[in-house]
Amino acid sequence: MSYEVLETRYSILTRLMGFLVFMIKDDTDYSRMESKMLSWVCCRASLMVKGIVTLEMRILGIETSCDETAAAVVEGGTRILSNIVASQVEIHARYGGIVPEVASRQHLLSAIPILQRALAEAGADFKDIAAIAVTNGPGLAGSLLVGVNLAKSLALACDLPLIGVNHLEGHIYANWIEEEGKNGLPEFPLLCLIVSGGHTDLVLMEGHGHYRQLGRTRDDAAGEAFDKVARILGLGYPGGPVIEQAAKGAQSPYRLPRAWLKGSDDFSFSGLKTAVFQMARDLGITGESATSSQMVVEIAAGFQEAVVDVLVAKTVGAARRCNVKQILLAGGVAANDELRQAMIRRSSLPVLIPSPILCTDNAAMIAACGYFRLKKGKTSGWDMDVNPGLRLVEITQVQSSGVQS
Ligand code: KG4
Ligand code: ZN
Repeated sequence: MSYEVLETRYSILTRLMGFLVFMIKDDTDYSRMESKMLSWVCCRASLMVKGIVTLEMRILGIETSCDETAAAVVEGGTRILSNIVASQVEIHARYGGIVPEVASRQHLLSAIPILQRALAEAGADFKDIAAIAVTNGPGLAGSLLVGVNLAKSLALACDLPLIGVNHLEGHIYANWIEEEGKNGLPEFPLLCLIVSGGHTDLVLMEGHGHYRQLGRTRDDAAGEAFDKVARILGLGYPGGPVIEQAAKGAQSPYRLPRAWLKGSDDFSFSGLKTAVFQMARDLGITGESATSSQMVVEIAAGFQEAVVDVLVAKTVGAARRCNVKQILLAGGVAANDELRQAMIRRSSLPVLIPSPILCTDNAAMIAACGYFRLKKGKTSGWDMDVNPGLRLVEITQVQSSGVQS
């Protein structure tokens, strides 16, 4: 076990007391190792007093699963020391969506500079890092490969533990990160709604690493629906932010259908997307001509309302039924202010949502998740591969519990 892992188990006080007892009991000379350890502890203690270092493990997180190249250093699983994200949005916007080949090449160009910035901003170098956490799925294979190879090389060269992190699990752990104005830490059992570009999952979380999937989308993910509808309406890419912005100008949003899938915790958004397509076609709106007409604004607002309505109603209903303590939101769509406000308004339970910047892809969430995995002694081997289709419940123990469902 590394010294860093030990650090979390015992407080510095215990160690100093141990050494004190040792010194009193034993008046012979210390071996070289013992005196080295003593000086290390004293040095750390004095730095702690000065507030320069704490005894919390620092994890370097790396995220390249899609179109953001990101690196971050997070201390104790909750405190961000640095969080650097290089977005490729402008590059992919030209094509109206992500081009996988372009994304992986861009990661290759950005990865090292982003890593260097993350370390510099954290005031850390590799001797201050306890482990390297990296997203190994789900995502685009070529993009994931860049991050995983980088993490493996660093872990090997610096003799550090390597931790493969599920991207969706990372999104959930953004909720553990300390932020100003945050009302408390997550408390188990909790219900998490993960809404991203590729996933819409309702997950019951009964402890660190214990997930039970209650529902998922049967077709398009919520973020995917935002992106496709934005394209239909000629609003550009990425769809979520542009639809949210356009909807602000609505006076009388069009009413669009909701797929409730009664009796199930699953979601479906492709019918809604088709309804938007048909409405746009009937109104003579085409991608090129749409621009900023009021009809587009009313459709965008109606679409957003429908998505938010279904996500909130189903999440609140499942939370009540499962008797959880809290609701957590995670993933890029959780940056949507209408969704955030509606969830808080309509839930009688506390709702935790990371700030928008931590909802979209970043490496701080990967580092935070890595910390909790490392604390449980869960590291990855050199045979860790990327898994573009990795699912949350496959990498973790699915456990039934006393939670009512
Ligand atoms: O989590 P994320 O950054 O990447 C994936 O893991 O997929 O999520 C990206 C998705 C995109 O579909 C984007 O349109 C959506 O999140 N998104 C939003 C907003 N910001 C990003 N959707 C709705 N409202 C937003 N403000
Ligand atoms: Zn994501």
